[in-house]
Amino acid sequence: MRFLLTGGAGYIGSHTCVSLLNAGHDIVVIDNLSNSSPVAIERVEEITGKKIAFYVGDCCDEDFLNEVLDNEQVDAAVHFAGLKAVGESVSIPLRYYKNNIDSTIALCNALAAHNVKRIVFSSSATVYGNSEIVPMREDLPLGVCTNPYGWTKWMNEQILRDLHVSDPEWSVVLLRYFNPVGAHESGKIGEDPSGIPNNLMPFICQTAAGIRKELSIFGNDYDTPDGTCVRDYIHVMDLADGHLKALEYATVHQGVETFNLGTGEGYSVYQMVAAFERANHLTLPHRDAPRRPGDIAQSYADPAKANRILGWKATHTLDDMCRDAWNWQSHNPTGYPKEDA
Ligand code: NAD
Ligand code: UD1
Repeated sequence: MRFLLTGGAGYIGSHTCVSLLNAGHDIVVIDNLSNSSPVAIERVEEITGKKIAFYVGDCCDEDFLNEVLDNEQVDAAVHFAGLKAVGESVSIPLRYYKNNIDSTIALCNALAAHNVKRIVFSSSATVYGNSEIVPMREDLPLGVCTNPYGWTKWMNEQILRDLHVSDPEWSVVLLRYFNPVGAHESGKIGEDPSGIPNNLMPFICQTAAGIRKELSIFGNDYDTPDGTCVRDYIHVMDLADGHLKALEYATVHQGVETFNLGTGEGYSVYQMVAAFERANHLTLPHRDAPRRPGDIAQSYADPAKANRILGWKATHTLDDMCRDAWNWQSHNPTGYPKEDA
């Protein structure tokens, strides 16, 4: 089959390109490169030995999307494109709402105009808000989000549910990612945060690389086994395979289905530091620091629904995640080469 990936040059998108190509599918990628490098696409082609139809452009531009879909026949789309920095979304909310919502509406219009009514959407565990119930199951009532980024995921889910109500031919799969980390085992593609990273693993990697003096551990007095926050870290290649399964599902089912993509295991920040040191035989300078506003004590998935219905299960271990993250970071200390871009 042939799939459209918006935001396919980004972190999760590029790894999903590898999974889909290796499974024998064709792909078309659209990305405006606002948070990614075209080198990621070249590297995916190197890893897989396959060519990608790659279009640089904006998913909010419906005319552009229509032109691409006039040229390229696809069976379904995965909508990764979006802005994702939580803190930035608080400073520039309108840009987040515009980009993340307009792109979904423009994409659905263009897909429908080409009679493609299958979409897999990149949602997030952030839609559970500050729920204290763990493990989180898909039927938990949606939470109150604490930032505009989270609300864009929440709203996009609702938009796609409403779309299906209006036209039951649509097949919509909402994937709620937990905490993606790691990189393809080749070390050729990985997470390349611009500026100051937002998430734990890039901070750990940059500290190990000497780019940062030490890792601050935000809060050691939470109601968790060792006092630090617990999260469900998932290897990005497991996440990528989840998209393959979701697309296969979307091509044979109509309706709206929501799936958690997580391992179901929660690890604390202290455990992450210890695992990174163990897997990579190094010492990570770190210190305890005050809590980060907005953090919840524990978040981990109940992935049973994805296991049962998609036949998907995360297989990589925490050590795999730490080893592959460091393999990418140590081979690409400053991310993708800018001169090739
Ligand atoms: P990313 O920033 O690496 O990838 C997103 C890609 O979308 C980038 O390549 C960017 O250039 C592109 N993009 C953004 N707006 C666009 C637009 N209007 N038109 C075309 N391209 C556009 O992020 P990621 O980590 O790969 O995340 C992919 C998706 O998954 C995002 O929607 C994100 O919100 C969601 N998500 C990510 C995480 C995470 O921790 N990484 C967790 C939950 C959900
Ligand atoms: C963040 C986002 C969330 C998003 C999720 C996955 C915030 C407030 N929330 O959550 O919306 O869905 O990523 O992309 O940004 N930590 C440290 N030191 C650091 C960095 C992080 O101790 O330098 C801790 C954090 O306090 C947290 C844990 O590590 O307890 C994981 O942090 P992070 O990777 O940012 O993920 P989330 O908190 O799950």
